[in-house]
Amino acid sequence: MTSQLESLKKYSSVVADTGDIDSIQKFSPDDCTTNPSLIFKAVQSEKYTKLVKNVISNSKSRKFKNLTDQIDYISDQLAIAFGIELTKIVPGYVSTEVDADISFDTKATIEKAKQIINSYEQSGINKNRILIKIAGTWEGIQAVKSLEAEGISCNCTLIFSLTQAIACAEAGAFLISPFVGRILDWFKSNTSYDLDSANDPGVESVAKIYNYFKKYGYKTVVMAASFRNKEEIINLAGCDKLTISPALLEELSQTEGVISPKLLSSESSKVDLPRVNVNENSFRWHLNENQMASFKLAEGIRLFNKDMIKLKDLIKLQL
Ligand code: E4P
Repeated sequence: MTSQLESLKKYSSVVADTGDIDSIQKFSPDDCTTNPSLIFKAVQSEKYTKLVKNVISNSKSRKFKNLTDQIDYISDQLAIAFGIELTKIVPGYVSTEVDADISFDTKATIEKAKQIINSYEQSGINKNRILIKIAGTWEGIQAVKSLEAEGISCNCTLIFSLTQAIACAEAGAFLISPFVGRILDWFKSNTSYDLDSANDPGVESVAKIYNYFKKYGYKTVVMAASFRNKEEIINLAGCDKLTISPALLEELSQTEGVISPKLLSSESSKVDLPRVNVNENSFRWHLNENQMASFKLAEGIRLFNKDMIKLKDLIKLQL
């Protein structure tokens, strides 16, 4: 018998959503995604003490204006060090996220993305293995537009609405990460709807984005992210990529069964989805009108920033 994971791989590229290098080898994912919270979690594990110590000790041979600059440098280098290890395990892309506190600063995002790519290249990792992960704010998407034009591929993250997704695709983003579970979380906390796997609003959001992109011929890869349960994943089989936590990869690999594709590009042209014109004004307007997406985008940035601050506090203690 085949496992659900093996069956799923026939329809979607499977990506590991983690900074825990050791936990994913057995699932043979194509790519790997990290975020500031996942890096903070991995850094605290005893398994990676040596990696963290190496990054800190390497920083000591460099000159910094002040302690803050040194901590910022170490924090960037830690995400890159985990990324480098992950490139040894997966054959495809590794996503590294820029700091959340520059989510509304196009220029700073472009600079940070280039710094990350340079650091990878200095370690012998070609930029074609790396996706720079940038929050789907208007300013972040403008940074993506400029980076993609310069040959740096981006992963637009914290995507909670079709408007954000279209803006990313029109900016030429290589890939977007529309979130599933965090949408479900919001509907569970803010509505009295009876929600189950048949009407999961996170799954519906990704299906809509996928169909829109295929219907109108956008090349941007759709990688569904942020899963809360196995059913959400199974109901998005067929999506270009699915980034899945080690716990859910384990569950899928332990369950026997055949999965059938739920998203089919050949069916997208039949889906009733009118074209949406996205510019800065309509982007901001649609986002403001969408209470869930506005809240989740803002909260996502806050939470990633909180974990980045915690990571920097941890580094300070070790210096
Ligand atoms: C991956 O790109 C996302 O950062 C991740 O899937 C978020 O998952 P979470 O909602 O479980 O934190």
